[in-house]
Amino acid sequence: MSHLIAPSILAADFARLHEAMALIDGSEADWVHVDVMDGCFVPNISFGFPVIRDIRPLTKKVLDVHLMIVEPERYIRPFREAGADHLTVHVEACPNLHRSIQMIKAEGMKAGVAINPHTNVLELEDVLADLDLVILMSVNPGYGGQRFIEHSYKKLEKLVALRAATSSSAWIEIDGGVNESNAARLVKFGADVLVAGSSVFKAPDPRQAIRNLKSPPPHTIEI
Ligand code: DX5
Ligand code: ZN
Repeated sequence: MSHLIAPSILAADFARLHEAMALIDGSEADWVHVDVMDGCFVPNISFGFPVIRDIRPLTKKVLDVHLMIVEPERYIRPFREAGADHLTVHVEACPNLHRSIQMIKAEGMKAGVAINPHTNVLELEDVLADLDLVILMSVNPGYGGQRFIEHSYKKLEKLVALRAATSSSAWIEIDGGVNESNAARLVKFGADVLVAGSSVFKAPDPRQAIRNLKSPPPHTIEI
């Protein structure tokens, strides 16, 4: 499988979200990455159910919802009802992670777990086989436009090995600071999905930026 691209609408102009959705819908992007922040798990507030409900009919692409909220298990059904296809919770926010994953699957969504830069990938060892996806955070969650943390490559290598050791088939999704100069290297290290906010929506030609992340031009490949 070639890797997938999930533009994050966090970096879009919220007064023109329908244009951002049309852009993604007509592009080579595979998923729409939707960042939900509660001002508690992370020091920022983004948006919630009404926004997801309103963008849902604007695309046939997968809505990949990333919850940066405390007690996410309280809201699993409402996110399904709002239109989420994938629901990802943070390991750091879930004392009963196995139950949270089962609840997401019981609602018919793909289940993901995200890990922060300080969290060891081994925290996922006992749930990896149950997961549809893992979001490896390559910045501290809460804001778009941050610099990619280089240590993420080492974590990615460890996660790829752990996935094989646990016979898991979870997608590995990299989130934070992804751009045209690190995309090829991330894919080479085993990333299946690249989330990209600023490098798409702040680009002069966002559609071309998505194309470049999908097939990075040879001159950008730094290995
Ligand atoms: C950060 C979010 C990311 C963010 C990525 O907390 O989880 O999905 O939108 O933005 P960029 O690509 O600008 O780092
Ligand atoms: Zn995200």
